[in-house]
This record gives sequence, C-alpha cells and structure tokens, in this order.
Amino acid sequence: MRASLAGVLGLDVSLLQSGMGGVAGAELACAVSNAGAAGCAGGYKLVDDALSAMLDRLAKGTDRPVGVNLIPEVVGPEELDRQVAQVLAETPEHIHLSLFGMPDDAVLDRVVAAGRKLVVQIGTVEDGVHAAERGAVVVAQGIEAGGHLLGASRRDELVAALRDRLPGACLVASGGIGSPAEAERALAAGADGVLLGTAFVVAHESRAHGYFKSAVTAADETDTVITDVYEIGWTGRRHRVLATAVTADPVQPKKFIGRTVVEGQPYLVPRFSSAVPTTATTGRIEEMALYCGKSCSAIAQEMSAAGVVAEFASVLPGAELAKNEKRTENNVGQ
Ligand SMILES: Cc1cc2nc3c(=O)[nH]c(=O)nc-3n(C[C@H](O)[C@H](O)[C@H](O)COP(=O)(O)O)c2cc1C
Repeated sequence: MRASLAGVLGLDVSLLQSGMGGVAGAELACAVSNAGAAGCAGGYKLVDDALSAMLDRLAKGTDRPVGVNLIPEVVGPEELDRQVAQVLAETPEHIHLSLFGMPDDAVLDRVVAAGRKLVVQIGTVEDGVHAAERGAVVVAQGIEAGGHLLGASRRDELVAALRDRLPGACLVASGGIGSPAEAERALAAGADGVLLGTAFVVAHESRAHGYFKSAVTAADETDTVITDVYEIGWTGRRHRVLATAVTADPVQPKKFIGRTVVEGQPYLVPRFSSAVPTTATTGRIEEMALYCGKSCSAIAQEMSAAGVVAEFASVLPGAELAKNEKRTENNVGQ
C-alpha cells in the first residue's frame, strides 16, 4: 500500500510548506508545523553562528516534524557539507532535511544514515527516480511554480510520469497550487500530498516585505514571467517572478537599489539580486525578485499560516489515514 505524506513524516495533514530563503524563517515554519502540516525554514546561505541561531529558534518553536531547507547548487559541495553537518549535530530528530535539487549521493546517504527524514524537490523524472531510490520523499516541481525552476514539465504530467515509474514512493506535487481544488487535481494525478510556496509568502508569519505580499494577493498568473535576470547570488537558473521594470528592461546598470539585514548582518542589494525583499529590506522593493507561482491567481488575501493549513486540510490525506497505515503495518507484523 502507498503511504501518505502525513504517514511518512508523522503529520496531521499531507502538506509541506516550502523552505524559502529570507521569507520562511523559524516563525513561519513552526506556525505551520504547530498547525499540523510540515513547516520548513529556509537555510539558503546561512552557516556557522547565523545557521545555529536559526536552528535554535526552530528547535525551540515546535516539537512537531519540521524541516530545514538547503540549496546544493547555491552553496556548492563544501559549504553544503558544513551546513548538513551543523543541522545533524545541532538539531533534534524531529527536524528533517529538505533539499532543492540534487546534491551528490553522499549527501543523501549521510542524511538517511543519520536517521533523518529527507525531502528532495526535483524537476525531472530521472532526478525523481534517483532521489526516491536513495530514500527521499520526492517533491515534483512543475513549471507553474514560483521561484527557481528545476525543469520544464507541467506539474501533473511530471507527477503522473513519476507515479508510473515509482508506484510505491511518497510523491508530493509542487507548483501552481493556490486552492484546495488545485490540490485535488494534483492528488488525482498521483500525488500523496502537496507543497505550497506562494500561498505561504502571504502568511502573517512570513517575512516577505509588505509590498511583496500585496503584489501577490493582487496578481493573477498572467502577471508572472519566467526570467533569468535575477542572477546575482544564484546564476544559471530561471525563476518565475512577478513582472517588474527589471524583467521588462534587463539592460539597466547593476547598481545598488536597496539595503537588507540577514541574521543581524547588513547587506547592500544590487539590482538583479536573487534575494527576495523581506521585512528588513528597504529601497526599490518594486524592482527586486518577487518570486511568485501561477498559484497567485487563487490567492486573494493574507492570512495566518494555520489558516492556510486549515483551508487545504479538508482535501488532503491526514492523520486518520496515517493511523490506518500504522494499524495495517502492525497487523502485517503479527
Ligand atoms: C518566494 C519564494 C522563494 C522560494 N525559495 C525557495 C528556497 O529557498 N528553497 C526551495 O527549496 N524552494 C524555494 N522556492 C520554490 C518552492 O519550493 C516551490 O517550488 C514553489 O513555491 C511551488 O510553487 P507555488 O509557489 O506556486 O506554490 C521558492 C518559492 C517562492 C515563491
């Protein structure tokens, strides 16, 4: 029998919140987990004391399953090793690792050998099969997704192709899911649960800048574009963003257009930076990277993280199914 996402991760609702660098801090992640889904804090480029501070807040904020998201291609193999070592050494077992894109096999094996749950987001069938074979929950990202794009397939086509290859794997659909009806379509394509990014950008507990949140709630999918102009800090990836003056006219000087603060450290923000504007950012917010999925068409208002979880809970497999899975396992064992 196929396991639900809730059953695999020990959740009440088969729902993942995307770890989003800058936007998803420990506050958002813990609020989502305390509401019964799995929250996730964006680790992005944090390392050493800055990462420790975030991990400490995460561990203190919830005793429910919760994740830390890392991005192998942004930090490179050596820095990723340091980040993974820190997460494994400094956090309790209910904290899982979430990765955006495939790292070396050694990283996957190390996390699984440490007894931690592993979630990997991919954009192709090949990567999905590989990640599942190494023990990961596979998040299949479609081209409808907000932010960085790992492939070029539509979400439900990728989910269906992966389900075909991986009949028993735990598969999560990602990209363009802003309503329970859209989540149901992803389940019908073969997913065991869903991951939401943009829907949590507008959560009260998210650190997205107020301008960013308002722009997401006002937008529909025709306001989003796929571009590679936001490449300072993350080169070689296309992103789905809200169209801005910068996406419309990318031939502009690479000058500083704002300031921000990350874990107490001040930074200047250049035009074309891949960093999202947060509550700590000032300057020309309207020109910055406003990552946003096609899901924005169905996202009309800001609400609490628990409100988002409650909205989707009615259509997603939940704790009841997870309990039944446990019962079946026990019966099989007798
Ligand atoms: C503002 C924003 C920031 C993101 N940052 C990350 C990140 O740091 N790590 C990651 O794994 N995915 C990140 N993503 C991508 C999500 O994991 C996911 O693919 C996407 O949000 C799904 O589409 P949706 O936004 O329509 O729900 C980000 C998405 C958004 C909207």
